[in-house]
Amino acid sequence: MKKIELDQLSFDALTKTHRELAVLAAGEPGHFNMMTIGWATYGTLWREPVTTVYVRHSRYTHEFTEQYDRYSVTFLKPGHEKLLGTTLGRQSGRDIDKMHDSGLTPVFVDGVPCFEEAALTLVCEKVYRGEITEDQFLDQKPVGQYYADHDMHTFYVGRVLAAYVAD
Ligand SMILES: Cc1cc2nc3c(=O)[nH]c(=O)nc-3n(C[C@H](O)[C@H](O)[C@H](O)COP(=O)(O)O)c2cc1C
Repeated sequence: MKKIELDQLSFDALTKTHRELAVLAAGEPGHFNMMTIGWATYGTLWREPVTTVYVRHSRYTHEFTEQYDRYSVTFLKPGHEKLLGTTLGRQSGRDIDKMHDSGLTPVFVDGVPCFEEAALTLVCEKVYRGEITEDQFLDQKPVGQYYADHDMHTFYVGRVLAAYVAD
């Protein structure tokens, strides 16, 4: 993994979010977890580059994003699409050894779990956490569509501390 300057970091955030899945990971060596995320936003807030990630309360990963100050968002190299839709996106680290079963290679960078198979990794530090609550929706459509079971998202706005691309 090669570190790049943040001002060299450039991608079409809308396209990236719409078409590509990422891996969200948090924890420390011996105690970490990761999962597929389809929903994330990228941009500038408080004059800093930030990501916002949305983690449902039911996810095992939620315990880690709550506990740890940092998280990573990783776009894997092409060829991992199936993994994102299966082991990483359908199975819980509560039930399986996801690290082993995924076949990914963990590497700790800036104190955060990242993966050697990454095309792009953003190391982020939590700045703000918030809860998506049903009563704050101005349009009720997503409530019925995405929260019928009341499994709500906690969201985290994280400043991007560093970006890494494949060597
Ligand atoms: C395509 C796809 C996108 C997903 N996006 C999210 C997401 O943005 N937020 C979320 O909480 N779960 C999302 N998930 C679900 C988690 O990845 C899934 O429940 C995972 O098994 C949780 O693992 P964990 O219990 O080990 O944290 C997504 C799953 C898939 C397949």
